[in-house]
Amino acid sequence: MAETTRAATMEKIVALSKRRGFVFPGSEIYGGLANTWDFGPLGAELRNNIKQLWWRTFVQRRRDMVGLDGGILMHPRIWEASGHVVNFNDPLVDCKTCKARFRADHLIEEKLGVNAEGKTPDELTALLKDANLPCPKCGNRTLTDARQFNMMFRTTIGPVEETGVQVYLRPETAQAIFVQYKNIVNTGRVKLPFGIGQIGKSFRNEITPGNFIFRDIEFEQMEIEYFVRPDEAPELFETWIEAMWGWIDLIGINRDRVRVREHAREELSHYSNRTIDFEYDFPAPMGWKELYGLANRTDFDLSKHQEFSGEDLTYFDQPTGTRFLPHVIEPTFGVERTMLMIMLDAYDEEQTTDVNGKADTRVVLRLSPRVAPYKAAILPLAKKPELTEVAWSIFNQIEAETNYLVDYDETGNIGKRYRRADEIGTPFCVTVDFDTLEDNAVTVRDRNTMEQQRIPLDGIVAFLRERIG
Ligand code: GAP
Repeated sequence: MAETTRAATMEKIVALSKRRGFVFPGSEIYGGLANTWDFGPLGAELRNNIKQLWWRTFVQRRRDMVGLDGGILMHPRIWEASGHVVNFNDPLVDCKTCKARFRADHLIEEKLGVNAEGKTPDELTALLKDANLPCPKCGNRTLTDARQFNMMFRTTIGPVEETGVQVYLRPETAQAIFVQYKNIVNTGRVKLPFGIGQIGKSFRNEITPGNFIFRDIEFEQMEIEYFVRPDEAPELFETWIEAMWGWIDLIGINRDRVRVREHAREELSHYSNRTIDFEYDFPAPMGWKELYGLANRTDFDLSKHQEFSGEDLTYFDQPTGTRFLPHVIEPTFGVERTMLMIMLDAYDEEQTTDVNGKADTRVVLRLSPRVAPYKAAILPLAKKPELTEVAWSIFNQIEAETNYLVDYDETGNIGKRYRRADEIGTPFCVTVDFDTLEDNAVTVRDRNTMEQQRIPLDGIVAFLRERIG
């Protein structure tokens, strides 16, 4: 699709999300809580579809993968060993006048157009001083030097805060996998190379507000730690690039809007010797931004946990008769970024005419049926018992014979109901009309083409199965 015809903007997706019940601002009736969101009925379905598809694709369907569901709270030493206590920082500057706080690297990128990724606080401070940047909020030239701010949320276990044990809300799901790796190896079902997948919440005290659900303080990750023999790591890294492209195809994303970007040396996280980002071309002014990551974490984490815990985490490799710490390839996916990308990529507007012949805009979410919240909507043309009875029997039949979530809608005129179904991405509308009572058939309307065809009642499930899978 050419860039000039792109209809999606972030504002339109935010408005549609609220209007149709995908995403609501968090704690809204209390004035909101910055960077927090709640997922409404359709958002909850879309997220579940994404997570189930990911789990099925990467964990259940692969013979070399198993799953884990680790806790959010873990021993605080884990975050010392992983390097997060010392290294998991954002460089921040404060305004001495209005007390506003900003990410120094983001400010420099935005105002000076310089790539500031990976620069030290001193380097960032030098850039800020040279440019004598004013505070973006109050305009005074009173920004402090850049300093590091740890992004982990802290809380306390125990009834008395002062004497309790200080723990962290995990900033990534990965560490639970590393610390349970030995238990999983000991269950005896895995042999190198193998992966452990996990889906779960992570928390980061992000300062820069986040382009809707793109950057959140509470978000969900779908992560894989793939354990390999050290000499196999470069080759297996490449196979994961392909597997991640496969996922992007599976959820119906236009490949032209996705690219792979190799991290420069100075940009690499403290644990990685190679990282690539999958980036998505978000609507202006965002542009290309990180969607997913793929890192070669080497044996960094296992060796640190071995050192800090005192447990032997080596693996005995039967085929080679050697014992070593496996290296780890990590493909990581954010659920919120996936959801946002799916909605932006699927959003389209078509110029049409309404029932009175007036120019009108049809908003349509061209979601892949794999992730669409509802696979079909059952619509009796009028709220008459003879029609609603048939409509409910079709609804019940689809529910009984498939695992598709189906919508039932009998309110308002049929044109409005089609528009609602289009906007929430329902691939098919099944309309029961008065002819149905004569010919035992219904009209099935295709969301993308708006084409309608007559399908016999006893053929509806097969029709949907063929198109949805
Ligand atoms: N275990 C490696 C790791 O956590 P990361 O690049 O910091 O790496 C992985 O995060 C993915 O998690 C990102 O590619 C993104 O999809 C998602 N993610 C990270 N921070 C996020 C945030 N603040 N809000 C929403 N998603 C986020």
